[in-house]
Amino acid sequence: MDLHVIGPLASPAERAAVDAVLGPPESGWVGGPRRPGVDGHAARGGHAIRSRRSQLLPALHAVQDRVGWISQPALNYISRRLAVPPAEAYGVATFYALFATKPRPPVMAHVCDDIACRVAGAEDTCAALERAIGPEGVAGANGSTGWMRSPCLGLCDRAPAALVTTAGEDGRVASAAPVDAAGVLARLDGGGAPRPPQRIPQQGDPSLRLLRRVGVIDPTSLDDYRAHGGYTALARAIQIGGESVIAEVTASKLMGRGGAAFPTGRKWAAVAAQPAQPHYLVCNADESEPGTFKDRVILEGDPFAIVEAMTIAAVATGASVGFLYIRGEYPEAEAAVRGAVASARAASLLGPDILGSGIAFDIEVRRGAGAYICGEETALFESIEGKRGEPRNKPPFPVEVGLFGKPTVVNNVETLLNIPLILEMGGEAYAGIGTDGSTGPRLFCLSGHVARPGVYEVEFGATLGDLIELAGGVPSGRAIRAILLGGAAGVFVGPDAIAMPLTFEATRAAGATLGSGVIMVFDETVDLVGTLRRIAQFFRDESCGQCVPCRVGSVRQEELLTRLAAGSRVRSRDEELTLLREIGQAMRDASICGLGQTASSAIESALRQPGLVAL
Ligand SMILES: Cc1cc2nc3c(=O)[nH]c(=O)nc-3n(C[C@H](O)[C@H](O)[C@H](O)COP(=O)(O)O)c2cc1C
Ligand code: SF4
Ligand code: FES
Repeated sequence: MDLHVIGPLASPAERAAVDAVLGPPESGWVGGPRRPGVDGHAARGGHAIRSRRSQLLPALHAVQDRVGWISQPALNYISRRLAVPPAEAYGVATFYALFATKPRPPVMAHVCDDIACRVAGAEDTCAALERAIGPEGVAGANGSTGWMRSPCLGLCDRAPAALVTTAGEDGRVASAAPVDAAGVLARLDGGGAPRPPQRIPQQGDPSLRLLRRVGVIDPTSLDDYRAHGGYTALARAIQIGGESVIAEVTASKLMGRGGAAFPTGRKWAAVAAQPAQPHYLVCNADESEPGTFKDRVILEGDPFAIVEAMTIAAVATGASVGFLYIRGEYPEAEAAVRGAVASARAASLLGPDILGSGIAFDIEVRRGAGAYICGEETALFESIEGKRGEPRNKPPFPVEVGLFGKPTVVNNVETLLNIPLILEMGGEAYAGIGTDGSTGPRLFCLSGHVARPGVYEVEFGATLGDLIELAGGVPSGRAIRAILLGGAAGVFVGPDAIAMPLTFEATRAAGATLGSGVIMVFDETVDLVGTLRRIAQFFRDESCGQCVPCRVGSVRQEELLTRLAAGSRVRSRDEELTLLREIGQAMRDASICGLGQTASSAIESALRQPGLVAL
């Protein structure tokens, strides 16, 4: 039986979209071509097929961008082109929130209703859109526009935020913030001004090291980047060689800024020492932790710095291929970084012979598709490989068995931003910034009830109060009720914590976390119960579902909070709270990855504080 002729065929538009990514098919079979080693069954399971599968997300994106949703015939066509079993392709397409496998209006507003946008009136926006267009996810009267809720879009400094996707031959994605219902409706009609270029509150401050170029240089210009000190660090890295680069990074005592605070020098040395080849390098720009937007600001404002830093990391670790995995909700940052990669390649700063050194390294930009879990490093590998973003068991660790089973170094965007600085000033001098246990400058994302939300750079050691003061304090002189540190996976602290230094060691000692640098301030007007329920919903929606404690626990946690909030108790309040704590404990102890292990921490931390939450 020839499976290729069953069912309706993909439309010309769907096929054209896929072919634009995978290359034109050869002629000769119904529904699309067989390509030796690509479309043919003979090669299934071979290396060509495995590497081809990693084109699955780009192919799905192509159809989604062109048509607005991914039909079964389109999915079948992609499956055949990539020799991926249709059931697996379906499993992947349905995993990611930005892909639709049922008809979706071609013009869609994804409206953030997450914690910072709630504070800024997102619920009013959603209610107004429901009145104007109709229920969430359904096409309005014109048949071509719709709206749906979204988790944090990484624009919390400009809340409330939305993302508008417009399907078509030149499928477009654009973010808008701050934006109200009228602004969303205007964008759905094709109007509305584009989001202005990124500015930072500290712009022009001569003490800035990491953010010194953001808002100052033209992010599309390699010449401007070079005129502001760019690419001197790479030249030095090539001159001193990989081992010495690792020695400098180790001397700097740089710890990863992606949340796990792992020493970068040690990670790089472990990958460099691996005999297996090739070595891969991944820049983790998935940044989906609610309240986090620093990586977006860096990538939009200083994209060459990350391209240069990745190239230095490649020199150090012997990686020949790099992937920059960026969340699908960051269209402007993605465009900036794609432009920077192309310009660097044209100037031989990427490619087969970087700066005449004989070193070969190139970067491929990969777009995520709406899945917070893909920020977890092994889920991210799975996603690049064309699979559902389900974390792997560790060990083996990525430094030994990572992307495509090869030694892989993964670093966060902010971690990488420190690398040129370390090479410019020397590892030891860098280690003199900050404290003994937390060296260097650090970025924090201030949002919520502060006068000047944004990304702030300070030296490690600044206190929570210093940061809130930098951001102008709480508007209208209202009192602080609670501060969320580290994002939805972090903890709430009270106003009594403002003297706490924001270092790895001080926050650890206080039972808190820096996480991805989130400082979200809530004044006395906040609906904290609603905020906790939104956090619980977030984890329920984002659990990959692979392990029982997290899959079931995150659902039960959300149900319990909803019950407690509604007062409809099937048990006494104390029994419900005990059950909530037990669910949290089970998720912490028995979940495979950090998502399940931290899914209850913010909620429990808020409930621990006497009188903070009225449940
Ligand atoms: C659920 C979950 C989400 C994560 N999301 C991100 C992310 O968006 N960006 C990031 O850099 N690290 C994220 N991490 C941490 C990564 O797994 C990894 O530790 C990090 O990318 C390593 O880079 P670093 O050493 O430079 O910090 C996440 C971890 C978990 C468990
Ligand atoms: S803890 Fe949650 S997100 Fe992590 S693997 Fe298990 S189910 Fe997936
Ligand atoms: S953009 Fe809405 S909460 Fe972050």
